[in-house]
Amino acid sequence: MRLLFLGDVVGRVGRQAVIAKLPELRERYRLDFVVVNGENSAGGFGITEAICTDLIDAGADVVTLGNHAFDQKEALVFIERYPQLVRPINYPKGTPGRGASLIKTPAGMEVLVINAMGRIFMAELDDPFRAVDAEIAKYALGRSAHCILVDVHGEATSEKQSMGHHCDGRVTAVLGTHSHIPTADCWVLPGGTAYQTDVGMCGDYDSVIGMKKEAAVLRFIRKMPGDRLTPAEGEGTLCAALFETDDKTGLAKSVRPIRVGGRLPPAS
Ligand SMILES: [Fe+2]
Ligand SMILES: [Fe+2]
Repeated sequence: MRLLFLGDVVGRVGRQAVIAKLPELRERYRLDFVVVNGENSAGGFGITEAICTDLIDAGADVVTLGNHAFDQKEALVFIERYPQLVRPINYPKGTPGRGASLIKTPAGMEVLVINAMGRIFMAELDDPFRAVDAEIAKYALGRSAHCILVDVHGEATSEKQSMGHHCDGRVTAVLGTHSHIPTADCWVLPGGTAYQTDVGMCGDYDSVIGMKKEAAVLRFIRKMPGDRLTPAEGEGTLCAALFETDDKTGLAKSVRPIRVGGRLPPAS
């Protein structure tokens, strides 16, 4: 199978990049499955039902979330109706929605997508390592799940890299989100798991992690409340990881970064 995983979509320009480019990428790379992180798709904070359906209509098979999952309160309700919408698995018991979803492709392949949130410099959720272990223990990679993708949503590179090694050989891919900056470590780990610490955002890079740079910079200079952070409005760059799996084992054969449009130079 060939899969594409797109990093955090930030605001309108991020959505426009995905909506404009994803259908063409699906064709060009003959994609079997697409996952998009949508935690910042509504004005930089959370996701609405209308935006979720826009991303699905553009070609997302699953939309993952993160610490901003419920910034738009309506997500607490509509998430229950969308098996394609996945929030971090290590939220406390009783949190609306699901932390993992098994979706069947038109070709009959079963793809498990797990969203797990780190705890370093982030909210103290349950242990993401144990939560991921418990979920992947329900499946046999290559048989009951032909592909298992873990979206590791975290701030600390060490914690995300640890999740990669912890899952190596047991899942198809561990791909990072949340920092909004693509890292230069996209490779297949020794055990056969595709890995990148952060795939980068889909948004305007002439910004501070997707938000207008003037207000964001002033926050660091003046230690007092300033303008509200709003998404930057220049052309968005679509950032993603493209990976191919071995249908027999469910492990990754290859992975590479994809960058399309906007100001950030192409990945290769
Ligand atoms: Fe984000
Ligand atoms: Fe985040």
